[in-house]
Amino acid sequence: MASAFLLSLLLLVICSHGGIAQANEAAAGHKESRYVVVPKAAFQSSEESCSTSRVSSPQSGRVSVPLAHRYGPCAPLQTKDELSLAQRLHRDRVRTKYITRRMSRSTRRQSSDASTVSVPTRLGSSYDSQKYLVTVGLGTPAVPQTLVLTTESDLSWVQCKPCNSSNCYPQKLPPFDPSRSSTYTAIPCDSQECRDLAAGIGGNGCTSNWECGFYIYYGSGANTTGVYSSDALTLGPGAVVENFHFGCGHDQEGPFGNEGKYDGVLALGRLPESLVGQTLAEHGGAFSLCLPPTGDSTGFLAFGAPENTSDFVFTPLLTMDDQPWFYQLMLTGISVGGQRLDIPAAVFREGMILASSTTITALQDTAYAALRTAFRSAMAEYPLAPPTAQLDTCYNLTGYNNVTVPTVSLTFRGGATVDLDASSGLLLDGCLAFWNTDGDEYTGLIGSLNQRTIEVLYDLPASRVGFRTGAC
Ligand SMILES: *[C@@H]1O[C@H](CO)[C@@H](O)[C@H](O)[C@H]1NC(C)=O
Ligand SMILES: *[C@@H]1O[C@H](CO)[C@@H](O)[C@H](O)[C@H]1NC(C)=O
Ligand SMILES: *[C@@H]1O[C@H](CO)[C@@H](O)[C@H](O)[C@H]1NC(C)=O
Ligand SMILES: *[C@@H]1O[C@H](CO)[C@@H](O)[C@H](O)[C@H]1NC(C)=O
Ligand SMILES: *[C@@H]1O[C@H](CO)[C@@H](O)[C@H](O)[C@H]1NC(C)=O
Repeated sequence: MASAFLLSLLLLVICSHGGIAQANEAAAGHKESRYVVVPKAAFQSSEESCSTSRVSSPQSGRVSVPLAHRYGPCAPLQTKDELSLAQRLHRDRVRTKYITRRMSRSTRRQSSDASTVSVPTRLGSSYDSQKYLVTVGLGTPAVPQTLVLTTESDLSWVQCKPCNSSNCYPQKLPPFDPSRSSTYTAIPCDSQECRDLAAGIGGNGCTSNWECGFYIYYGSGANTTGVYSSDALTLGPGAVVENFHFGCGHDQEGPFGNEGKYDGVLALGRLPESLVGQTLAEHGGAFSLCLPPTGDSTGFLAFGAPENTSDFVFTPLLTMDDQPWFYQLMLTGISVGGQRLDIPAAVFREGMILASSTTITALQDTAYAALRTAFRSAMAEYPLAPPTAQLDTCYNLTGYNNVTVPTVSLTFRGGATVDLDASSGLLLDGCLAFWNTDGDEYTGLIGSLNQRTIEVLYDLPASRVGFRTGAC
Protein backbone atom coordinates (compact mmCIF):
# COMPACT_ATOMS: atom_id res chain seq x y z
CA MET A 1 0.00 0.00 0.00
CA ALA A 2 2.64 2.40 1.12
CA SER A 3 4.90 1.44 -1.76
CA ALA A 4 2.04 1.81 -4.28
CA PHE A 5 1.42 5.25 -2.87
CA LEU A 6 5.09 6.10 -3.19
CA LEU A 7 5.14 4.79 -6.73
CA SER A 8 2.16 6.86 -7.77
CA LEU A 9 3.70 9.88 -6.08
CA LEU A 10 6.87 9.24 -8.02
CA LEU A 11 4.94 8.88 -11.27
CA LEU A 12 3.11 12.09 -10.47
CA VAL A 13 6.42 13.86 -10.00
CA ILE A 14 7.81 12.45 -13.25
CA CYS A 15 4.66 13.28 -15.17
CA SER A 16 4.38 16.79 -13.86
CA HIS A 17 8.00 17.28 -14.71
CA GLY A 18 7.42 16.09 -18.24
CA GLY A 19 4.40 18.35 -18.39
CA ILE A 20 6.49 21.32 -17.44
CA ALA A 21 9.06 20.52 -20.10
CA GLN A 22 6.35 20.29 -22.75
CA ALA A 23 4.63 23.46 -21.60
CA ASN A 24 8.01 25.03 -21.71
CA GLU A 25 8.51 24.10 -25.35
CA ALA A 26 5.07 25.35 -26.22
CA ALA A 27 5.63 28.64 -24.46
CA ALA A 28 9.22 29.03 -25.58
CA GLY A 29 10.37 32.57 -25.08
CA HIS A 30 7.55 33.49 -22.72
CA LYS A 31 8.15 34.68 -19.18
CA GLU A 32 6.01 31.75 -18.00
CA SER A 33 8.66 29.21 -19.03
CA ARG A 34 9.78 27.56 -15.89
CA TYR A 35 12.31 24.94 -16.88
CA VAL A 36 14.62 24.52 -19.82
CA VAL A 37 16.13 21.23 -20.94
CA VAL A 38 19.73 21.87 -21.82
CA PRO A 39 21.83 19.22 -23.56
CA LYS A 40 24.83 18.84 -21.31
CA ALA A 41 27.14 19.43 -24.25
CA ALA A 42 25.90 23.02 -24.29
CA PHE A 43 27.54 23.59 -20.92
CA GLN A 44 30.87 22.46 -22.33
CA SER A 45 31.78 24.23 -25.55
CA SER A 46 34.56 22.48 -27.38
CA GLU A 47 36.57 25.71 -27.35
CA GLU A 48 38.85 24.31 -30.01
CA SER A 49 38.32 26.68 -32.85
CA CYS A 50 36.58 29.95 -33.41
CA SER A 51 33.26 29.30 -35.06
CA THR A 52 32.64 32.00 -37.62
CA SER A 53 29.02 30.98 -37.93
CA ARG A 54 28.56 32.18 -34.40
CA VAL A 55 29.70 35.72 -35.05
CA SER A 56 26.91 38.10 -34.09
CA SER A 57 26.35 41.71 -34.86
CA PRO A 58 23.81 44.26 -33.73
CA GLN A 59 21.00 45.66 -35.83
CA SER A 60 22.29 47.39 -38.92
CA GLY A 61 23.25 51.03 -39.03
CA ARG A 62 25.47 50.98 -35.97
CA VAL A 63 29.23 51.01 -35.73
CA SER A 64 30.28 47.80 -34.02
CA VAL A 65 33.38 45.87 -33.00
CA PRO A 66 33.48 42.09 -32.43
CA LEU A 67 34.13 41.07 -28.88
CA ALA A 68 35.67 37.81 -27.70
CA HIS A 69 36.44 36.08 -24.45
CA ARG A 70 40.05 36.62 -23.55
CA TYR A 71 41.10 32.99 -23.51
CA GLY A 72 38.81 31.40 -26.09
CA PRO A 73 39.77 30.44 -29.64
CA CYS A 74 38.06 33.61 -30.93
CA ALA A 75 40.37 35.83 -28.87
CA PRO A 76 42.54 38.02 -31.10
CA LEU A 77 45.59 36.99 -29.08
CA GLN A 78 45.99 33.32 -28.40
CA THR A 79 47.08 33.17 -24.80
CA LYS A 80 46.50 30.62 -22.09
CA ASP A 81 44.98 31.37 -18.74
CA GLU A 82 47.69 30.51 -16.27
CA LEU A 83 45.35 30.62 -13.31
CA SER A 84 43.16 27.80 -12.04
CA LEU A 85 39.40 28.30 -11.76
CA ALA A 86 39.76 28.57 -7.97
CA GLN A 87 42.43 31.26 -8.34
CA ARG A 88 40.30 33.20 -10.81
CA LEU A 89 37.30 32.97 -8.50
CA HIS A 90 39.38 34.17 -5.59
CA ARG A 91 40.47 37.24 -7.56
CA ASP A 92 36.91 37.84 -8.69
CA ARG A 93 35.73 37.81 -5.09
CA VAL A 94 38.48 40.12 -3.86
CA ARG A 95 37.64 42.52 -6.64
CA THR A 96 33.91 42.36 -5.90
CA LYS A 97 34.48 43.09 -2.24
CA TYR A 98 36.73 45.99 -3.10
CA ILE A 99 34.08 47.53 -5.33
CA THR A 100 31.00 46.80 -3.24
CA ARG A 101 32.48 47.83 0.13
CA ARG A 102 33.40 51.24 -1.17
CA MET A 103 29.98 51.68 -2.60
CA SER A 104 27.99 50.84 0.45
CA ARG A 105 28.03 54.09 2.38
CA SER A 106 27.24 56.23 -0.61
CA THR A 107 23.92 57.90 -1.10
CA ARG A 108 22.15 57.46 -4.37
CA ARG A 109 19.72 59.22 -6.52
CA GLN A 110 18.54 59.26 -10.10
CA SER A 111 21.19 60.32 -12.55
CA SER A 112 19.05 63.23 -13.76
CA ASP A 113 20.87 65.52 -11.36
CA ALA A 114 24.25 64.14 -12.29
CA SER A 115 25.55 67.65 -12.97
CA THR A 116 26.11 68.13 -9.25
CA VAL A 117 28.11 64.98 -8.59
CA SER A 118 31.36 65.29 -6.73
CA VAL A 119 34.16 63.88 -8.82
CA PRO A 120 36.43 61.19 -7.42
CA THR A 121 40.16 61.37 -7.54
CA ARG A 122 41.02 57.80 -8.39
CA LEU A 123 39.84 54.91 -10.44
CA GLY A 124 38.77 52.13 -8.19
CA SER A 125 38.85 48.89 -10.04
CA SER A 126 41.11 45.94 -10.06
CA TYR A 127 42.73 44.72 -13.18
CA ASP A 128 42.73 41.05 -12.54
CA SER A 129 39.49 39.66 -13.81
CA GLN A 130 38.84 41.71 -16.89
CA LYS A 131 37.61 39.24 -19.40
CA TYR A 132 36.67 40.49 -22.86
CA LEU A 133 38.83 41.80 -25.67
CA VAL A 134 38.25 44.06 -28.67
CA THR A 135 40.64 45.04 -31.45
CA VAL A 136 40.65 48.65 -32.61
CA GLY A 137 43.10 50.78 -34.61
CA LEU A 138 45.21 53.56 -33.10
CA GLY A 139 47.13 56.31 -34.90
CA THR A 140 47.71 57.13 -38.56
CA PRO A 141 48.30 54.75 -40.20
CA ALA A 142 46.11 52.78 -37.82
CA VAL A 143 47.96 50.12 -35.81
CA PRO A 144 45.81 47.28 -34.40
CA GLN A 145 45.53 47.35 -30.63
CA THR A 146 43.91 44.53 -28.70
CA LEU A 147 42.35 46.02 -25.62
CA VAL A 148 40.61 44.69 -22.56
CA LEU A 149 37.13 46.14 -22.41
CA THR A 150 35.75 47.55 -19.16
CA THR A 151 32.68 49.52 -18.12
CA GLU A 152 34.13 49.95 -14.64
CA SER A 153 36.68 52.68 -15.41
CA ASP A 154 36.99 55.76 -17.60
CA LEU A 155 40.47 56.46 -18.87
CA SER A 156 41.65 54.23 -21.72
CA TRP A 157 45.36 53.55 -22.12
CA VAL A 158 47.86 51.52 -24.14
CA GLN A 159 51.50 50.65 -23.53
CA CYS A 160 53.65 53.10 -25.48
CA LYS A 161 57.23 53.37 -26.61
CA PRO A 162 59.64 54.28 -25.18
CA CYS A 163 59.03 51.56 -22.65
CA ASN A 164 61.78 49.22 -21.58
CA SER A 165 61.28 45.71 -20.28
CA SER A 166 61.39 46.73 -16.66
CA ASN A 167 58.61 49.28 -17.17
CA CYS A 168 56.29 47.46 -19.58
CA TYR A 169 54.79 44.01 -19.24
CA PRO A 170 55.40 41.68 -22.18
CA GLN A 171 52.82 41.98 -24.94
CA LYS A 172 52.51 40.10 -28.19
CA LEU A 173 53.16 42.97 -30.60
CA PRO A 174 55.56 45.84 -29.95
CA PRO A 175 54.04 48.65 -27.87
CA PHE A 176 52.39 51.54 -29.69
CA ASP A 177 55.00 53.92 -31.10
CA PRO A 178 53.72 57.52 -31.05
CA SER A 179 56.61 58.69 -33.24
CA ARG A 180 55.22 56.64 -36.14
CA SER A 181 51.76 58.18 -36.08
CA SER A 182 51.24 61.39 -38.03
CA THR A 183 48.22 62.32 -35.92
CA TYR A 184 49.65 61.72 -32.44
CA THR A 185 49.97 64.62 -30.03
CA ALA A 186 50.92 64.69 -26.37
CA ILE A 187 48.44 66.89 -24.52
CA PRO A 188 50.24 69.94 -23.11
CA CYS A 189 50.27 70.42 -19.39
CA ASP A 190 48.77 73.90 -19.50
CA SER A 191 45.72 72.83 -21.53
CA GLN A 192 42.11 72.70 -20.41
CA GLU A 193 42.07 68.94 -21.11
CA CYS A 194 44.91 68.44 -18.65
CA ARG A 195 43.19 70.59 -16.02
CA ASP A 196 40.01 68.54 -16.52
CA LEU A 197 41.94 65.31 -16.06
CA ALA A 198 43.60 66.65 -12.92
CA ALA A 199 40.24 67.80 -11.52
CA GLY A 200 38.71 64.40 -12.14
CA ILE A 201 40.33 61.03 -12.49
CA GLY A 202 43.83 60.06 -13.35
CA GLY A 203 45.71 63.39 -13.45
CA ASN A 204 49.40 63.21 -12.53
CA GLY A 205 50.86 66.68 -12.91
CA CYS A 206 53.32 67.69 -15.62
CA THR A 207 56.06 65.59 -17.11
CA SER A 208 59.57 66.96 -17.52
CA ASN A 209 58.62 67.89 -21.11
CA TRP A 210 55.66 69.97 -19.88
CA GLU A 211 53.29 67.29 -21.14
CA CYS A 212 50.19 66.20 -19.26
CA GLY A 213 50.88 63.24 -16.96
CA PHE A 214 48.34 60.54 -16.08
CA TYR A 215 48.30 57.89 -13.39
CA ILE A 216 45.84 55.04 -12.86
CA TYR A 217 45.84 52.82 -9.82
CA TYR A 218 43.88 49.55 -9.82
CA GLY A 219 42.63 47.82 -6.70
CA SER A 220 44.86 44.83 -7.44
CA GLY A 221 47.97 46.95 -6.81
CA ALA A 222 48.78 47.40 -10.49
CA ASN A 223 49.32 50.90 -11.81
CA THR A 224 50.16 52.69 -15.03
CA THR A 225 51.62 56.10 -15.64
CA GLY A 226 52.63 58.10 -18.69
CA VAL A 227 51.49 60.91 -20.95
CA TYR A 228 47.88 61.92 -21.54
CA SER A 229 47.69 61.88 -25.34
CA SER A 230 45.48 62.34 -28.36
CA ASP A 231 45.35 60.33 -31.57
CA ALA A 232 42.91 58.87 -34.09
CA LEU A 233 41.00 55.80 -32.88
CA THR A 234 39.55 53.57 -35.60
CA LEU A 235 36.59 51.50 -34.39
CA GLY A 236 35.72 50.07 -37.78
CA PRO A 237 35.71 50.90 -41.47
CA GLY A 238 34.92 54.60 -41.76
CA ALA A 239 34.39 54.97 -38.04
CA VAL A 240 37.27 57.04 -36.78
CA VAL A 241 37.27 59.01 -33.55
CA GLU A 242 39.60 61.94 -34.28
CA ASN A 243 41.54 63.27 -31.30
CA PHE A 244 40.72 60.37 -29.02
CA HIS A 245 42.18 61.09 -25.57
CA PHE A 246 43.96 58.20 -23.88
CA GLY A 247 46.94 57.45 -21.69
CA CYS A 248 50.21 56.57 -23.41
CA GLY A 249 51.58 54.28 -20.71
CA HIS A 250 55.34 54.34 -20.27
CA ASP A 251 55.48 52.61 -16.91
CA GLN A 252 53.20 49.73 -15.87
CA GLU A 253 53.87 48.09 -12.53
CA GLY A 254 52.31 45.42 -10.38
CA PRO A 255 50.24 42.39 -11.37
CA PHE A 256 49.83 42.92 -15.11
CA GLY A 257 52.52 40.49 -16.16
CA ASN A 258 51.08 36.99 -16.01
CA GLU A 259 47.90 37.97 -17.72
CA GLY A 260 49.52 40.44 -20.09
CA LYS A 261 49.85 40.19 -23.85
CA TYR A 262 47.02 42.62 -24.58
CA ASP A 263 47.97 46.18 -25.43
CA GLY A 264 45.89 48.18 -22.96
CA VAL A 265 42.38 48.99 -21.79
CA LEU A 266 39.33 50.43 -23.53
CA ALA A 267 37.31 52.19 -20.84
CA LEU A 268 33.55 52.68 -21.20
CA GLY A 269 32.66 54.19 -17.81
CA ARG A 270 30.33 57.15 -17.29
CA LEU A 271 32.76 60.04 -16.87
CA PRO A 272 33.66 62.44 -19.71
CA GLU A 273 37.12 60.87 -20.18
CA SER A 274 35.70 57.53 -21.31
CA LEU A 275 35.17 56.57 -24.93
CA VAL A 276 31.44 57.02 -24.35
CA GLY A 277 31.94 60.56 -23.05
CA GLN A 278 34.30 61.41 -25.90
CA THR A 279 31.92 60.29 -28.64
CA LEU A 280 28.78 62.08 -27.44
CA ALA A 281 28.55 64.00 -30.72
CA GLU A 282 28.85 60.89 -32.93
CA HIS A 283 27.03 58.29 -30.86
CA GLY A 284 24.90 60.25 -28.41
CA GLY A 285 26.22 58.62 -25.25
CA ALA A 286 24.72 55.20 -25.92
CA PHE A 287 26.36 51.84 -26.54
CA SER A 288 25.57 48.13 -26.31
CA LEU A 289 27.54 45.14 -25.16
CA CYS A 290 26.64 41.58 -25.99
CA LEU A 291 28.95 39.11 -24.25
CA PRO A 292 29.21 35.85 -26.19
CA PRO A 293 28.03 32.57 -24.66
CA THR A 294 31.34 30.76 -25.07
CA GLY A 295 34.96 31.31 -26.02
CA ASP A 296 34.34 29.89 -29.49
CA SER A 297 31.82 32.55 -30.45
CA THR A 298 31.91 36.33 -30.61
CA GLY A 299 29.62 39.04 -29.31
CA PHE A 300 29.72 42.75 -30.03
CA LEU A 301 30.34 46.24 -28.76
CA ALA A 302 28.06 48.64 -30.69
CA PHE A 303 27.90 52.41 -30.55
CA GLY A 304 24.78 54.55 -30.52
CA ALA A 305 21.26 53.41 -29.65
CA PRO A 306 19.39 51.05 -32.00
CA GLU A 307 16.59 52.67 -33.96
CA ASN A 308 14.08 50.06 -32.93
CA THR A 309 14.16 49.19 -29.25
CA SER A 310 10.89 47.26 -29.15
CA ASP A 311 12.74 44.03 -28.27
CA PHE A 312 14.33 45.59 -25.17
CA VAL A 313 13.06 45.90 -21.63
CA PHE A 314 14.31 48.98 -19.75
CA THR A 315 15.12 49.98 -16.20
CA PRO A 316 16.36 53.35 -14.86
CA LEU A 317 20.09 53.93 -14.47
CA LEU A 318 21.08 55.07 -10.98
CA THR A 319 24.08 57.13 -9.91
CA MET A 320 26.08 57.17 -6.70
CA ASP A 321 27.49 60.42 -5.39
CA ASP A 322 30.86 59.03 -4.41
CA GLN A 323 31.46 56.65 -7.34
CA PRO A 324 29.66 58.20 -10.28
CA TRP A 325 31.59 56.14 -12.83
CA PHE A 326 29.67 52.93 -12.10
CA TYR A 327 26.51 51.95 -13.93
CA GLN A 328 24.04 50.96 -11.26
CA LEU A 329 20.56 49.40 -11.31
CA MET A 330 17.90 48.57 -8.74
CA LEU A 331 17.12 44.87 -8.62
CA THR A 332 13.63 44.28 -7.23
CA GLY A 333 13.07 40.55 -7.51
CA ILE A 334 14.38 37.13 -8.52
CA SER A 335 12.38 34.21 -9.91
CA VAL A 336 13.42 30.58 -10.10
CA GLY A 337 11.43 28.19 -12.27
CA GLY A 338 8.75 30.85 -12.67
CA GLN A 339 8.27 31.33 -8.90
CA ARG A 340 9.03 34.77 -7.51
CA LEU A 341 11.25 34.37 -4.44
CA ASP A 342 10.03 35.84 -1.20
CA ILE A 343 12.72 38.46 -0.56
CA PRO A 344 11.87 41.68 1.32
CA ALA A 345 12.33 44.71 -0.97
CA ALA A 346 14.62 46.34 1.58
CA VAL A 347 17.25 43.66 0.97
CA PHE A 348 17.93 45.15 -2.46
CA ARG A 349 18.08 48.78 -1.34
CA GLU A 350 21.83 49.23 -1.92
CA GLY A 351 21.39 48.46 -5.61
CA MET A 352 23.53 46.51 -8.05
CA ILE A 353 26.58 47.56 -10.04
CA LEU A 354 26.38 46.41 -13.64
CA ALA A 355 29.87 45.03 -14.25
CA SER A 356 31.56 43.77 -17.41
CA SER A 357 34.93 42.73 -16.04
CA THR A 358 33.84 40.77 -12.97
CA THR A 359 32.41 37.30 -13.55
CA ILE A 360 30.19 36.22 -10.66
CA THR A 361 27.02 37.99 -9.50
CA ALA A 362 27.08 39.05 -5.85
CA LEU A 363 23.70 39.22 -4.09
CA GLN A 364 22.95 40.54 -0.63
CA ASP A 365 23.07 37.61 1.83
CA THR A 366 19.31 37.29 2.31
CA ALA A 367 18.69 37.31 -1.45
CA TYR A 368 21.48 34.85 -2.13
CA ALA A 369 20.20 32.44 0.53
CA ALA A 370 16.71 32.50 -1.02
CA LEU A 371 18.09 31.94 -4.51
CA ARG A 372 20.29 29.07 -3.38
CA THR A 373 17.46 27.31 -1.57
CA ALA A 374 15.09 27.61 -4.53
CA PHE A 375 17.70 26.61 -7.08
CA ARG A 376 18.80 23.58 -5.07
CA SER A 377 15.21 22.51 -4.67
CA ALA A 378 14.55 22.87 -8.40
CA MET A 379 17.71 20.89 -9.16
CA ALA A 380 17.10 18.28 -6.46
CA GLU A 381 17.32 15.39 -8.93
CA TYR A 382 21.01 16.10 -9.59
CA PRO A 383 23.74 15.20 -7.11
CA LEU A 384 25.50 18.13 -5.45
CA ALA A 385 29.25 18.24 -5.84
CA PRO A 386 31.74 19.80 -3.40
CA PRO A 387 32.02 23.62 -3.57
CA THR A 388 34.47 25.18 -6.03
CA ALA A 389 36.24 27.98 -4.17
CA GLN A 390 33.43 30.21 -2.86
CA LEU A 391 30.78 28.82 -5.22
CA ASP A 392 28.75 26.56 -2.94
CA THR A 393 26.03 25.18 -5.20
CA CYS A 394 27.77 22.83 -7.61
CA TYR A 395 26.51 19.75 -9.41
CA ASN A 396 28.08 16.56 -10.62
CA LEU A 397 26.44 16.16 -14.02
CA THR A 398 28.48 13.13 -15.03
CA GLY A 399 26.27 10.64 -16.80
CA TYR A 400 23.45 13.04 -17.75
CA ASN A 401 22.83 13.80 -21.39
CA ASN A 402 20.34 16.57 -20.75
CA VAL A 403 19.97 18.76 -17.71
CA THR A 404 16.64 20.30 -16.77
CA VAL A 405 17.42 23.69 -15.25
CA PRO A 406 14.94 26.16 -13.82
CA THR A 407 14.67 29.50 -15.57
CA VAL A 408 16.27 32.17 -13.40
CA SER A 409 15.00 35.71 -14.02
CA LEU A 410 16.03 39.04 -12.59
CA THR A 411 13.44 41.79 -12.27
CA PHE A 412 14.54 45.41 -12.09
CA ARG A 413 12.86 48.65 -11.06
CA GLY A 414 10.04 49.44 -13.44
CA GLY A 415 9.29 45.74 -13.98
CA ALA A 416 11.95 44.90 -16.58
CA THR A 417 12.40 41.13 -16.29
CA VAL A 418 15.34 39.35 -17.85
CA ASP A 419 15.62 35.56 -18.23
CA LEU A 420 19.24 34.49 -17.89
CA ASP A 421 20.49 32.18 -20.65
CA ALA A 422 20.08 28.65 -19.33
CA SER A 423 23.10 27.14 -21.05
CA SER A 424 25.71 29.88 -20.71
CA GLY A 425 24.44 32.43 -18.21
CA LEU A 426 23.72 30.46 -15.07
CA LEU A 427 26.35 27.86 -14.30
CA LEU A 428 30.12 28.10 -14.22
CA ASP A 429 31.78 24.70 -14.34
CA GLY A 430 28.60 23.09 -12.93
CA CYS A 431 28.26 25.67 -10.13
CA LEU A 432 25.56 28.31 -9.71
CA ALA A 433 27.40 31.51 -10.72
CA PHE A 434 26.21 33.62 -7.77
CA TRP A 435 27.55 34.29 -4.30
CA ASN A 436 26.78 36.57 -1.39
CA THR A 437 28.10 40.04 -0.58
CA ASP A 438 28.75 39.03 3.06
CA GLY A 439 26.08 41.38 4.36
CA ASP A 440 22.78 42.91 3.28
CA GLU A 441 24.23 46.38 3.82
CA TYR A 442 26.49 46.12 0.78
CA THR A 443 25.88 46.95 -2.82
CA GLY A 444 25.50 43.94 -5.08
CA LEU A 445 27.09 43.37 -8.46
CA ILE A 446 25.78 41.81 -11.66
CA GLY A 447 28.64 39.80 -13.08
CA SER A 448 29.49 39.21 -16.71
CA LEU A 449 28.44 35.54 -16.76
CA ASN A 450 24.77 36.36 -16.19
CA GLN A 451 24.90 38.81 -19.09
CA ARG A 452 25.99 36.29 -21.72
CA THR A 453 23.93 36.30 -24.95
CA ILE A 454 22.00 39.38 -23.73
CA GLU A 455 22.45 42.73 -25.47
CA VAL A 456 22.82 45.29 -22.68
CA LEU A 457 22.11 48.80 -23.94
CA TYR A 458 23.63 51.63 -21.90
CA ASP A 459 21.56 54.68 -22.78
CA LEU A 460 22.99 57.58 -20.80
CA PRO A 461 20.94 60.48 -22.20
CA ALA A 462 17.75 58.60 -21.37
CA SER A 463 19.19 57.43 -18.01
CA ARG A 464 18.23 53.88 -18.66
CA VAL A 465 19.63 50.42 -19.34
CA GLY A 466 17.95 48.02 -21.77
CA PHE A 467 18.16 44.24 -22.10
CA ARG A 468 17.49 42.15 -25.22
CA THR A 469 17.77 38.42 -24.70
CA GLY A 470 19.10 35.99 -27.32
CA ALA A 471 21.09 38.75 -29.04
CA CYS A 472 24.44 36.99 -29.53
C1 LIG B 1 64.42 51.44 -18.03
O1 LIG B 1 63.75 52.54 -17.42
C2 LIG B 1 64.19 52.81 -16.11
C3 LIG B 1 63.31 53.91 -15.56
O2 LIG B 1 63.14 54.94 -16.46
C4 LIG B 1 65.64 53.22 -16.14
O3 LIG B 1 66.09 53.46 -14.82
C5 LIG B 1 66.44 52.11 -16.78
O4 LIG B 1 67.78 52.50 -16.92
C6 LIG B 1 65.87 51.75 -18.13
N1 LIG B 1 66.56 50.58 -18.66
C7 LIG B 1 66.99 50.52 -19.91
C8 LIG B 1 67.67 49.26 -20.30
O5 LIG B 1 66.85 51.46 -20.69
C1 LIG C 1 52.87 50.89 -8.63
O1 LIG C 1 52.83 49.52 -8.31
C2 LIG C 1 54.03 49.00 -7.81
C3 LIG C 1 53.86 47.49 -7.67
O2 LIG C 1 52.65 47.17 -7.00
C4 LIG C 1 54.39 49.68 -6.50
O3 LIG C 1 55.60 49.18 -6.00
C5 LIG C 1 54.50 51.17 -6.75
O4 LIG C 1 54.75 51.85 -5.54
C6 LIG C 1 53.25 51.72 -7.40
N1 LIG C 1 53.48 53.09 -7.77
C7 LIG C 1 52.68 54.05 -7.37
C8 LIG C 1 53.05 55.41 -7.81
O5 LIG C 1 51.69 53.85 -6.70
C1 LIG D 1 10.55 46.96 -34.39
O1 LIG D 1 10.89 45.59 -34.23
C2 LIG D 1 9.77 44.76 -33.98
C3 LIG D 1 10.28 43.37 -33.62
O2 LIG D 1 11.49 43.06 -34.22
C4 LIG D 1 8.86 44.78 -35.19
O3 LIG D 1 7.74 43.97 -34.96
C5 LIG D 1 8.41 46.22 -35.42
O4 LIG D 1 7.66 46.28 -36.60
C6 LIG D 1 9.61 47.14 -35.55
N1 LIG D 1 9.14 48.50 -35.59
C7 LIG D 1 9.56 49.36 -36.52
C8 LIG D 1 9.01 50.75 -36.43
O5 LIG D 1 10.35 49.06 -37.40
C1 LIG E 1 30.53 12.35 -10.30
O1 LIG E 1 29.69 11.28 -10.49
C2 LIG E 1 30.33 10.17 -11.10
C3 LIG E 1 29.29 9.12 -11.44
O2 LIG E 1 28.26 9.12 -10.52
C4 LIG E 1 31.41 9.66 -10.15
O3 LIG E 1 32.08 8.56 -10.75
C5 LIG E 1 32.40 10.78 -9.91
O4 LIG E 1 33.37 10.37 -8.98
C6 LIG E 1 31.70 12.01 -9.40
N1 LIG E 1 32.65 13.12 -9.38
C7 LIG E 1 32.76 13.91 -8.33
C8 LIG E 1 33.76 15.02 -8.46
O5 LIG E 1 32.08 13.78 -7.32
C1 LIG F 1 18.01 15.11 -24.77
O1 LIG F 1 17.42 16.11 -25.56
C2 LIG F 1 17.38 15.82 -26.93
C3 LIG F 1 16.81 16.99 -27.64
O2 LIG F 1 16.96 18.16 -26.88
C4 LIG F 1 16.55 14.59 -27.18
O3 LIG F 1 16.59 14.27 -28.55
C5 LIG F 1 17.09 13.45 -26.38
O4 LIG F 1 16.23 12.35 -26.50
C6 LIG F 1 17.21 13.84 -24.91
N1 LIG F 1 17.86 12.78 -24.20
C7 LIG F 1 17.41 12.36 -23.06
C8 LIG F 1 18.17 11.24 -22.43
O5 LIG F 1 16.43 12.84 -22.50
